[in-house]
Amino acid sequence: MVKELTAAAVTRGLKTRSIGRKVLYFNSLPSTMDIARQEALKGAIEGTVIVAGEQTGGRGRLKRSWLAPKGNVALSIILYPKIESLPYLIMIASLAVVKSIESFTGVKAQIKWPNDILIGGKKVGGILIENELRGNKVTYSIVGIGINVDLRVADYAEIATTATSLKNESDKDDLQIEIIRALLTEFERLYLKLPDGKAIYEGWRERLVTLGKKVRAESGSQDIEGEVEAVDEDGALVIREEDGKLTRVVAGDVTLREK
Ligand code: ATP
Ligand code: BTN
Repeated sequence: MVKELTAAAVTRGLKTRSIGRKVLYFNSLPSTMDIARQEALKGAIEGTVIVAGEQTGGRGRLKRSWLAPKGNVALSIILYPKIESLPYLIMIASLAVVKSIESFTGVKAQIKWPNDILIGGKKVGGILIENELRGNKVTYSIVGIGINVDLRVADYAEIATTATSLKNESDKDDLQIEIIRALLTEFERLYLKLPDGKAIYEGWRERLVTLGKKVRAESGSQDIEGEVEAVDEDGALVIREEDGKLTRVVAGDVTLREK
């Protein structure tokens, strides 16, 4: 039996204090990011979550498009963090996605810097964070999370060889509601640790598949090639170039390709 995704199905029995206390569900939306932004500007309470049954105009970083037809997870969480906490949001979201996937499928997931969640080297989820700042104060921060749950990746030529879904990787399907609830619970557990992000950073670093890899980081016309030697607590990669020079790369507009 297919379980119906609704706001009540997500909040029923959810034991969080703020993340997911309020859930706004939309059957179909261009992107949860836009509604989340509008709600934040209207003063939505922290932890409000926008969930879409399907997205028709979902987006990733660098204006790339993100496919999220029915049967998958597409949501945005509204937060009002301190500016010092911003670097940890991607780490919290990544760890929460990994944990929610592992607890319901038993399949191991990894984090690829800066914002991809992989199973067996294929992309199963992605995170998009959009912040608005005024001076050094955060007006709002929107954490967008997409996870391929029942996606039949073979039906989408553009991602058929690079992506996967929980249904593809396990014998389980219809996990949407369970995954969302576990994700929100774990997100809150980690978010409540802030402003002390050390343990979050260490947990995230342990899961990064990017460490030790030979990569090319492209940002506009700038290309940096070398081996990833470390990742700093602010989320920046430290790349050892061929000539021995160490260069720090912050996520921003960077595309990372394995060499
Ligand atoms: P980077 O290393 O820069 O993150 P990326 O190719 O993963 O590279 P992103 O901006 O993170 O780029 O993600 C957007 C890309 O993800 C799109 O260009 C598309 O190829 C791919 N994509 C879109 N929808 C999905 C999906 N549902 N599952 C997996 N991949 C998708
Ligand atoms: C990426 O891989 O670049 C990030 C993908 C982020 C997708 C999620 S789905 C929910 C939210 N709404 C969007 O339009 N994008 C994010």
